[in-house]
Amino acid sequence: MPRRCPFDLNEQYAELREEAPITPVDLASGRDAWLVTSHEHVRTLFLDPRLSADGTHPTFPILAPRRKSFDEQARGFLPWMDPPEHTRYRRMLINEFTVRRIRAMRPRVQAVVDGCIDRMEAGPRPVDLVRALALPVPSQTICDVLGVPYEDLDHIQDRAEVMVSKVHPPEERAAALRDLRTYLGDLLHRKGREPGDDTLSRLVARHRAVGADDHDHLTGLALLILIGGYESTASTIALGTVALLAHPDQAAELRADPSLAPKAVEELLRYFSVADNVTSRVSLEDVEIGGVTIRKGQGVLLSNAAANRDAAVFPDPETLDIHRDARQHMAFGYGIHQCLGQNLARLELDVVFSTLLRRLPGLRLAVPVEDLPFKDDAIMYGIHELPVTW
Ligand code: HEM
Repeated sequence: MPRRCPFDLNEQYAELREEAPITPVDLASGRDAWLVTSHEHVRTLFLDPRLSADGTHPTFPILAPRRKSFDEQARGFLPWMDPPEHTRYRRMLINEFTVRRIRAMRPRVQAVVDGCIDRMEAGPRPVDLVRALALPVPSQTICDVLGVPYEDLDHIQDRAEVMVSKVHPPEERAAALRDLRTYLGDLLHRKGREPGDDTLSRLVARHRAVGADDHDHLTGLALLILIGGYESTASTIALGTVALLAHPDQAAELRADPSLAPKAVEELLRYFSVADNVTSRVSLEDVEIGGVTIRKGQGVLLSNAAANRDAAVFPDPETLDIHRDARQHMAFGYGIHQCLGQNLARLELDVVFSTLLRRLPGLRLAVPVEDLPFKDDAIMYGIHELPVTW
């Protein structure tokens, strides 16, 4: 159910939450599922071990008709694993994303953001903020984390951009994904021979230490880190900028008091919930909840976007309010699969919004908001292009 206005969910979500917060739905892929829209039920089901995240399960509620073409890439795909396999692989990565480790990255992220804004200032206007800032910040940051050599950055950025951009045909996007996988597979071999101070080198070492020898799996994990935080963070940067420009009072407050940034970031994450469609599950047993029975084998869509607009938890939920306490949002999911890169995403968003407002105080849209090409597909909510000037 696509968003009709860039800032609001399709109104049917609110109606469903009111009347039938767990309701049967038909999917574009031809499969069916239960759609869950209340904060309480979404949260409960995120924690229920009877729901599986196994995306290769024969009745998994796949949303997009074409999604099958990516199945070959599913190996090592952490969000699609269940315990105990999931626990084992997540444990190999968790230390890479601790608050302390991410905090230490702030100067580097600041330098990446400043570099992007320097280039924006030096070039002609209007500037497409998606290409100039929203995409390069997460890709450069994650390449730093992984230890991708600088000389390969352009190639990685090009492939990643093709992969996420809906303007390219599906075969080209699938080819870009394969290229990334091949590149990362080779890089992992190199990191095994010549380890550096980076996540991939440590991942190879940990993998060897537990006696695992599955190069394909490791490559899948690396790929997931590379792309997992790419489109989601880029979309939140671009949409967050649109929202701040549409709410100049709140933007002015944030500019005057950058210590408000962490709260503003939580609110923007709640408000847009760009990764609404990734939190799907399939039931391994009959589950009784909220007066319905989810039968064994049935799909379940946990709509984090709908839960994040539930007035029972967020008063006046359709209003953007950077002062609200939005910490109970589930834009990063909840439970065992809760986003591994959330601290990194928060850091990037904090630095981007604070720096953008400070360095370009006259920033404004170069086209009316109605003309912006918003996209709402089976994977992510976002925006293709964001022309701005100042
Ligand atoms: C605004 C940015 C982001 C959003 C909205 C977001 C959203 C999500 C959501 C909703 C999930 C849960 C999927 C599920 O329950 O099935 C998830 C999982 C994950 N995310 Fe993110 N994410 C963001 C940024 C990042 C970044 C920067 C990284 C990597 C550095 C990352 C890596 C991951 C990984 C590895 C998982 C799988 C965790 C698991 O299955 O245990 N994400 N993300």
